Amino acid sequence: MGSVTTPSFDRRTAVSLISRLRTARGQDNPFPIYKELRSQGAIIPAPWGGYLVTSYDLCDHILRNRAWLEPDKPWRERQGPRTRWSAPSAREIGSTLPALNPPDHTRARRAAGVAFDRGTFERLGRTVTQATDHLLDALADRLRDGEADFAALVSEELPIATIGNWLDLPAADWPRLRELTHEQVFTQELLPSASQLARSDVAMEELRAYFRDLVRDRRRRLGEDPVSRWITTWDSLEPDQDKADQEVYYLALFVLLAALETTSTLLSTMTLQLVENPGHWDLVAADPDELVPAFVEEALRYDPPTHVISRVSATDCLLEGVRIRKDDMVHLMVGAAHRDPAKHPRPGRFDPHRRPAHLAFSGGIHYCLGAPLARLEAQTLLRQLISRLPRLTLVRPPARAPRVAFRRLLNLDVALA
Ligand code: HEM
Repeated sequence: MGSVTTPSFDRRTAVSLISRLRTARGQDNPFPIYKELRSQGAIIPAPWGGYLVTSYDLCDHILRNRAWLEPDKPWRERQGPRTRWSAPSAREIGSTLPALNPPDHTRARRAAGVAFDRGTFERLGRTVTQATDHLLDALADRLRDGEADFAALVSEELPIATIGNWLDLPAADWPRLRELTHEQVFTQELLPSASQLARSDVAMEELRAYFRDLVRDRRRRLGEDPVSRWITTWDSLEPDQDKADQEVYYLALFVLLAALETTSTLLSTMTLQLVENPGHWDLVAADPDELVPAFVEEALRYDPPTHVISRVSATDCLLEGVRIRKDDMVHLMVGAAHRDPAKHPRPGRFDPHRRPAHLAFSGGIHYCLGAPLARLEAQTLLRQLISRLPRLTLVRPPARAPRVAFRRLLNLDVALA
């Protein structure tokens, strides 16, 4: 671990920085706020308890080290009643894959299997190409009459078409599922308010009913889809059928939640870089084989869809000289860590040639199960955009949702350049 200094910490400054970060304006450009947070130290106490970590190396170390755990169900229960962790939506998330620790996590992750074997990935590749084609047709139509909202027409549509197809969910259900995903996200936010948690709870109830019914129906008619496959796997691991169905439900539910907003955000932030800077468009168009994958990775570093990943300490310990107690939470400020100049020189510059290391898909045993799919969608979209459409330009700066952990562009208005 490289040496990290922790200068004296000013609580009032941290409170004010975090308040700014939670506003739509703060989300517009959180990076100067991150810089100020970093100037307070690589690890600083969070005003509400726990710690904020802004150093890349420290975030990376924590993600890969078994002494740091997910805030699992027992941890959530230890926080007591009437906390955000006891909200029904938080309890539900508390049983899904990213809230499990070994050995439960090892078993559930193994049961999820190789999510995308070669055949599945090739089939999904065709689905993504076809869906992208349709969406870009619709975008091109709209652009003939003037400006178009890329976020609504493309970024919000491609991930649900991909996951809906993969999980074999009826297309008529897609818009509602997407809406519910946007509503439930607050329970996974850094500091949800009581009213946001209430919205998450309502959304989660509907999602729960939907996915429980789905698992029940699939069990009646097992097919080739992943949900049917997970039922067969869990039946071989778990003699109690109700428990097996419960495990499949948690996996199917979380796959949908994990896949939609994050991928939409990636598609929008990547396209924002392309339309804000004509030089980028020309550069990628001149060498797509080399630069399409590199551009996507730089977009994931520059402004990752998830800016915060949290862990709790398994034991009392010292972290870079800071005393941490068992069960204390550390918030890995991934959005800030990606701009850590100790890791990436000139971190504020979007460099399509950089091919950076990043933590957008986490690290260690919880590394994102859907990373190949997210990359497939982003690369397919980018390749088709630059080969099919004339250069696009940004009409106005996009608006962003007032959150911290899960970035969301509310619009991305573009026009023909
Ligand atoms: C750009 C898009 C995506 C981003 C940025 C992203 C990010 C992440 C992150 C940061 C984690 C780890 C959380 C932690 O360490 O606590 C994670 C886990 C996970 N992601 Fe993704 N994700 C994306 C797309 C997807 C997609 C498309 C799927 C499904 C097909 C998916 C499924 C999952 C699952 C199941 C986990 C839990 C893994 C585990 O805990 O073992 N993600 N993702």
